[in-house]
Amino acid sequence: MSKRIGFIGLGNMGSPMAINLHKAGFDVTVYNRTADKAKVLGEQGLQVAESLEDAVREKDVVITMLSNDEAVEQMIVGDGGVLDYMEAPTILVDMSTISPDTSCTLAEAAREMGITMVDAPVSGSTNAAESAGLVILYGGPRDVFDELAEMFAAMGKASLYFGENGSGSKAKLVINLLLGMTMQGISESLVLAEKFGLERTTVLDMMQQAAVSSPFLGFKRPSLETEAYPAAFALKHMHKDLGLVLEQARHNGSILPATAAAYQSYTAAMNHGLDEQDMAVVFAELLNQSGVSKK
Ligand SMILES: NC(=O)c1ccc[n+]([C@@H]2O[C@H](COP(=O)([O-])OP(=O)(O)OC[C@H]3O[C@@H](n4cnc5c(N)ncnc54)[C@H](OP(=O)(O)O)[C@@H]3O)[C@@H](O)[C@H]2O)c1
Repeated sequence: MSKRIGFIGLGNMGSPMAINLHKAGFDVTVYNRTADKAKVLGEQGLQVAESLEDAVREKDVVITMLSNDEAVEQMIVGDGGVLDYMEAPTILVDMSTISPDTSCTLAEAAREMGITMVDAPVSGSTNAAESAGLVILYGGPRDVFDELAEMFAAMGKASLYFGENGSGSKAKLVINLLLGMTMQGISESLVLAEKFGLERTTVLDMMQQAAVSSPFLGFKRPSLETEAYPAAFALKHMHKDLGLVLEQARHNGSILPATAAAYQSYTAAMNHGLDEQDMAVVFAELLNQSGVSKK
């Protein structure tokens, strides 16, 4: 019998992930705080929970894919939250990007109730979520990782086992530090190019031919060329992630001066109301600060 999955959080990432589980033959019931997003998936054949309880009861696995620490805490240990309804042996899999400390605290709260909770955030944006091309970064018991392999394979091209609870969340901060800095680096190069008066399209051609090119640059190129930034990965989430990186660095003594500087750019963009746009909008922020007006 295929696993019964309760999927909570149908944002830019959660919706395509839930659809891929459904397509792979899992028995998926979806729930979202804003009910309209669940209704859309109902039209595609997924079961829509009538309540959070409905999404959690009698499931083999419950997945959460939510914005940030606050949302995950509220949903899992808040009043009327997931743990109020969950019973062993259902496994709780949080795939959101949150602090490793919060992942561990929540896993402990679950453990006290006899529930196994693991962290399994993902690398890859909406395009990877849609094509089941995510990389799943796992922290938790090894035997549970093995048990969830088929489910992860329905959403991703690879699953990586990092170790005990919190390790998946740590790995996610490692990769997103690089992502945030890459966007900052591309943006700064492009700002200099604008100031030189170089043609942006030709500069992007050069970047894509150079050794520093990356698939990421290809994904973001349309936004950088047109200065339109529909959110695949909202800037507010990258701002959150770099904040989590710096918080961890404060505790463990990592010296990350360039990350701290990049965080300032993302903060400035937040201050200017760009939070809901794609993270690539940090380029627009730097252009603006450099006195270059929108084309
Ligand atoms: N987008 C990406 O490229 C990407 C890539 C890798 C990882 N991530 C991470 O994956 C997670 C989800 O990202 P996303 O892009 O899908 O975000 P999103 O589009 O902003 O969706 C966020 C989801 O969280 C729910 N939510 C927020 N606050 C809540 C609360 N207090 N209670 C209940 N539900 C709440 C939202 O519900 P409503 O619909 O009701 O607002 C929505 O379902 C984030 O941690 C992000 O950092 C994103």
